[in-house]
Amino acid sequence: MRAMVYRGPYKIRVEEKDVPAIEHPNDAIVRVTTGAICGSDLHLYHGLMPDTRIGHTFGHEFIGVVEQVGPSVQNLTVGDRVMVPFNIFCGSCWFCARGLYSNCHNVNPNATAVGAIYGYSHTTGGYDGGQAEYVRVPFADVGPTLIPDWMSDEDAVLLTDAVPTGYFGAQLGEIVEGDTVVVFGAGPVGLVAAKSAWLMGAGRVMVIDHLEYRLEKARSFAHAETFNFTEYDDIVVAMKRATDHLGADVAIDAVGAEADGNLLQHVTSATLKLQGGSPVALNWAIDSVRKGGTVSVVGAYGPIFSAVKFGDAVNKGLTLRMNQCPVKRQWPRLFEHVRNGHLRPSELVTHRIPLEHIAEGYHIFSAKLDGCIKPLVLPGAA
Ligand SMILES: NC(=O)c1ccc[n+]([C@@H]2O[C@H](COP(=O)([O-])OP(=O)(O)OC[C@H]3O[C@@H](n4cnc5c(N)ncnc54)[C@H](O)[C@@H]3O)[C@@H](O)[C@H]2O)c1
Ligand SMILES: [Zn+2]
Ligand SMILES: [Zn+2]
Repeated sequence: MRAMVYRGPYKIRVEEKDVPAIEHPNDAIVRVTTGAICGSDLHLYHGLMPDTRIGHTFGHEFIGVVEQVGPSVQNLTVGDRVMVPFNIFCGSCWFCARGLYSNCHNVNPNATAVGAIYGYSHTTGGYDGGQAEYVRVPFADVGPTLIPDWMSDEDAVLLTDAVPTGYFGAQLGEIVEGDTVVVFGAGPVGLVAAKSAWLMGAGRVMVIDHLEYRLEKARSFAHAETFNFTEYDDIVVAMKRATDHLGADVAIDAVGAEADGNLLQHVTSATLKLQGGSPVALNWAIDSVRKGGTVSVVGAYGPIFSAVKFGDAVNKGLTLRMNQCPVKRQWPRLFEHVRNGHLRPSELVTHRIPLEHIAEGYHIFSAKLDGCIKPLVLPGAA
């Protein structure tokens, strides 16, 4: 089969690989019909994720058709059109029993924190991902779900990560009626978090980024007030001014460790590798929220971080909530929102890239060129 293959930082190729085989009775093999590139893939692409091995195939957002099932699979049959959550999870361990699918204890021998993710390095289990023609889906009775007839492929593929993660970011904010919510990051995740904040009763929604074309999307897609942080000496002061000097009730970090906006942090992380990334968006979130407020973190961070304003969070009495998104837990509610038109995930799609040209897709998305917000990957297209 043809598959995206990692050859080192910034080096992506499409190569021949063996079609994956059933390795366990509860595996399925899925023929990918639509995939996507996530902001999280950029951390791999930039060489920042530990134990990203040469030859690994990325891709944790994909939908497809069941090609083959192992002998114990009961919920899927060959030919089913399925969506697959980015988490691989067993469905029965202590954590899965409590809905913590992203923290499953049975799927990743290398870590005690994160569970397993398709195509996301050996740190999250070493499973090959869906930026390929075929992918092996472990625990096939647990993760995948049939795509309802009324749901389009483009909506479905966005429901495998970006949309549930944005929605989850808003949920972790514990928004109550009338709350002022500030979202850092206007990528797909932040845009959906902003949109979801309204669905959860927010009275005011603000989005912060430095890419004008994405802030424009925050206005049109999420009806948010927008702030370009490069236009202010101090974006936190601007946030305070905008909120009667009290701060927002809820701040959502949808940026993660590759944040721009602070040269010192950039040099010590990206250049000198003295820390695992820049906590600038997290610190802005901690500073922008009012005393007693809530900070929700869905942006990705490596295991160890320095220079986080933890003391300020303590002394302000903040609630900090965070996790990788347990995607399948979000689906029932999100299916309703998509069906009744409250959320239109496919509006985020800007690029549809044939698998053969995926290297160009990574470049465009990483460098934020050509108005790119969400690139899809199409294995079927030549
Ligand atoms: N928790 C999860 O389950 C989960 C799932 C998906 C993605 N993620 C993470 O969420 C984050 C966002 O994902 P995405 O796909 O939207 O990525 P993206 O790269 O498309 O978007 C990130 C945005 O943040 C902006 N930004 C950079 N520095 C900023 C700053 N200091 N303040 C405000 N905005 C800033 C960038 O300009 C960009 O628009 C990534 O870290 C990704 O790894 C987490
Ligand atoms: Zn992702
Ligand atoms: Zn489990």
